[in-house]
Amino acid sequence: MKFAIVFAALFALAVAAPPASHQEAQVLRLESDVGVDSFNYALETSDGTAQQAQGQLKQVDPENAAVVQQGSYRFIADDGQTYTINWTADEFGFHPEGAHLPVAPEA
Ligand SMILES: *[C@@H]1O[C@H](CO)[C@@H](O)[C@H](O)[C@H]1NC(C)=O
Repeated sequence: MKFAIVFAALFALAVAAPPASHQEAQVLRLESDVGVDSFNYALETSDGTAQQAQGQLKQVDPENAAVVQQGSYRFIADDGQTYTINWTADEFGFHPEGAHLPVAPEA
């Protein structure tokens, strides 16, 4: 029981107090263009984090449309490394790609 309380307290502390570098992040760039059947946005902050994505409506079959998207994001982790993910999301799912991510064998 005591362990659970200490754990909960530490968890609350970790959630409540982001690292100083995150607290002071400034928005360096924000672009957003939302249309009827497409969107495009980009956000970059001074803590080294950036993300951007585009999407467009795609008719996947006569009855269904999906918003097909592609984008990327990067962030500096606690280990000091910058991690970049490129991703696509379509009617088949979410597909991330990054140098640090394992690659699934060919089906
Ligand atoms: C992400 O895409 C860019 C542009 O296509 C490419 O230069 C970069 O190597 C890719 N990064 C990863 C982690 O896949």
